[in-house]
Amino acid sequence: MKLKDRVAIVTGGSSGIGRGISIELAGEGARVVVCDLVERPRPGKYHDRDVTAPTVEALNAMGADGLFVKTDVSDEAAVNRLVDRTLETFGGLDILVNNAGVFALGDSQTLSVEEWDRVMGINLRALFLTTRAAVPHLKQSRAGRIINIASVHAFHGGGGPAYAPAKAGVVNLTRDTAVELASHGITANTICPGYIETPIQDYLTEAQIAEAAEKTPLPRLGLPKDIGRACVFFASDDAEWITGATLPVDGGWLAPIW
Ligand SMILES: NC(=O)c1ccc[n+]([C@@H]2O[C@H](COP(=O)([O-])OP(=O)(O)OC[C@H]3O[C@@H](n4cnc5c(N)ncnc54)[C@H](O)[C@@H]3O)[C@@H](O)[C@H]2O)c1
Repeated sequence: MKLKDRVAIVTGGSSGIGRGISIELAGEGARVVVCDLVERPRPGKYHDRDVTAPTVEALNAMGADGLFVKTDVSDEAAVNRLVDRTLETFGGLDILVNNAGVFALGDSQTLSVEEWDRVMGINLRALFLTTRAAVPHLKQSRAGRIINIASVHAFHGGGGPAYAPAKAGVVNLTRDTAVELASHGITANTICPGYIETPIQDYLTEAQIAEAAEKTPLPRLGLPKDIGRACVFFASDDAEWITGATLPVDGGWLAPIW
């Protein structure tokens, strides 16, 4: 077990990728605090249609420890309470996974300013809030880790005027965090998922999903566990000398020149 008894917070841990990350971390012995707006997994139109058990129930069924804390990551007071509950329950904090995120359809003419602010608030500003609250406790850990989930949209246009710049911001926020915290032995790294089968994809058409599969060189779409395994790597001692790095986990999506 690579993460025995380490304590992790996973934001957006009830559904999709965050659920997959929670399960993989717990499978390596971590105690996982699942933070989300809602406890029940969100069933998707295309993916995760039959997932119904809350993540902590799934962790307990594996024999692992877990705790759900209802939290809006864009709310500073709620984030501070999340970290307090983690310390009260498990006595420390070793791993912070900033995964919660939302997508909003629209362009410069159709996306409202309120929606732009909401996407930025959850996808970028919230990472500042959780990091700020977690760092004093990560400094007490012998293996403090911050893992931020961005997207392949961090590197190219086409993700919309809020989502794409928020994710690009996550990549550079992570580098800055890495520089700030390196002398404390804390690492900070980014994972950039390609198309992963989760309910976030509900806004797509079946034709767009088929196109995504075609654009992915490896012959399948991604699964939450693919991101979960990359998180296990960054959280483990195997990655103790890796910080400020950006890892696409995208089935090769970013590799071709076209
Ligand atoms: N699925 C993909 O193809 C894909 C690709 C690239 C990046 N990502 C990123 O991965 C992350 C997870 O996405 P997903 O596909 O699992 O989405 P999802 O919609 O399936 O799950 C997101 C989870 O975050 C929670 N959440 C939303 N707003 C929150 C808030 N304010 N506070 C706390 N929790 C909140 C939701 O309740 C939900 O459980 C996001 O940051 C997303 O941008 C996903």
